[in-house]
Amino acid sequence: MSLSIVIMAAGKGTRMKSSLPKVLHRLAGQPLIGHVLGAAAQLGDRNTVHTVVITGYGAAAVEAYVAQCASTAHCVRQMPQLGTGHAVQQAVPLLPDSGTTLILNGDVPLIRNETAAALVQASNGRHLALLTIPLDDATGYGRIIRNADGAITGIVEHKDASEDQRRIREVYTGVMAAPTAWLKSAVMGLRNDNAQAEYYLTDVVAQAVRDGISVVHTQAANQTEVLGVNSPSQLADLERRCQQDRAQALMEAGVRLADPARLDVRGQLRCGRDVEIDINCLFEGDVQLGDGVRIGSHCVIRDAVIGNGAVIHPFSHIDGEGHPVRVGPDARIGPYARLRPGAELGAEVHIGNFVEVKNSRLAQGAKANHLAYLGDSTVGQRVNFGAGSITANYDGAHKHHTVIEDDAHVGSNCVLVAPVTIGAGATIGAGSTIGKDAPAGQLTVARAKQTSLTGWKRPLKNPTKG
Ligand code: UD1
Ligand code: CA
Repeated sequence: MSLSIVIMAAGKGTRMKSSLPKVLHRLAGQPLIGHVLGAAAQLGDRNTVHTVVITGYGAAAVEAYVAQCASTAHCVRQMPQLGTGHAVQQAVPLLPDSGTTLILNGDVPLIRNETAAALVQASNGRHLALLTIPLDDATGYGRIIRNADGAITGIVEHKDASEDQRRIREVYTGVMAAPTAWLKSAVMGLRNDNAQAEYYLTDVVAQAVRDGISVVHTQAANQTEVLGVNSPSQLADLERRCQQDRAQALMEAGVRLADPARLDVRGQLRCGRDVEIDINCLFEGDVQLGDGVRIGSHCVIRDAVIGNGAVIHPFSHIDGEGHPVRVGPDARIGPYARLRPGAELGAEVHIGNFVEVKNSRLAQGAKANHLAYLGDSTVGQRVNFGAGSITANYDGAHKHHTVIEDDAHVGSNCVLVAPVTIGAGATIGAGSTIGKDAPAGQLTVARAKQTSLTGWKRPLKNPTKG
């Protein structure tokens, strides 16, 4: 049986009071519609499931995002946007004449694919299946209307509901599944004689009753998966719920969080055994923490692989976007360290406070403990890179490489002007500016000789001038 999925994403999201289309607002680091496309993608084979996204407000931006994350989905434009029923009308020419169609809301992001699959199952190619949930505060939602026998007879939108109907707690979540052929004819017959003068998709429920199509319902497992985002405050509420769920899942997997309410994961965080994460850490993109890793408070970590036993001290910023950062086993990073794309640190490397590392490979046991910059460099084993020293990798037009071989010792406040090589075991005297290769095993010093002037007097202020 073929499955079609229609994702409605044309609305402006007036209540967001933003120029960004609502479905592109981010939840846990990902646009709302990205979450929905993710759930849709898990419902079956990309080749058999046919996905249509209805775009309208900010269509170009929404379509560009859809193309980037779900290249097989088709977008159709709804211009102007005359309601959710009108939205589905735009998809009609693209839908087959058989099978089941699942309707998802672009602004209901946390729908689980298991829930959507159960709804498709309940529709079974014959019934209209609605995903519903009881809510304590149902304001704004369509209410499920039942007859004396308890059978569903319709959905009434909040704005059209009577006082009595507004007391109904059972709401429509915006997700339904229906026989495709019937749905196509039902949406084409919708009218807009209601409080908002819109074509309501929800009116197909009453139509089903008239057509003798049975209306069934499935209840969502929890509120979080069906809450819609209509305002910044609902977005923030859903973000917190999503983060709580992620924190809970991490703890169930054995991760020790100092405070699950003070963790944010905007992407994927995979952890080994005995990982500890202190408060106020933010993980973005794809982050892997090995066994026994400890993350201090207030760290921001994106796209990184942290090896077993490594310790990241507080306030460190690790950003491997585009070229993941790798931190070797038992390394010590921070506090206040900054690792940028392409930083690859071997085992037991120490990177201390106010040290920045970019596109550089440091071998086992190398250390840069204070106030330093290593960019575009290859650093050997056990190298000690002194306080205040930097690689001058950029000549204003091009980046150049610095090589520091095993066991070299670069003193404090040195400038290594790339391209340059410091030989194995070399020592560079403090304050040197090194523009030529320094030979292995020798002391190289490049700084002005120290002189002292005897009899020199500090100038005195002229008392008549004041
Ligand atoms: C809708 C349902 C309501 C349900 C709620 C659940 C209708 C009439 N009402 O209300 O019963 O309780 O969802 O969250 O369906 N959209 C379009 N084109 C349009 C209008 C909207 O594509 O012309 C899209 C929006 O981008 C959004 C989705 O449809 O992703 C829902 O629209 P929205 O205006 O938020 O509907 P609600 O008032 O929340
Ligand atoms: Ca909504």
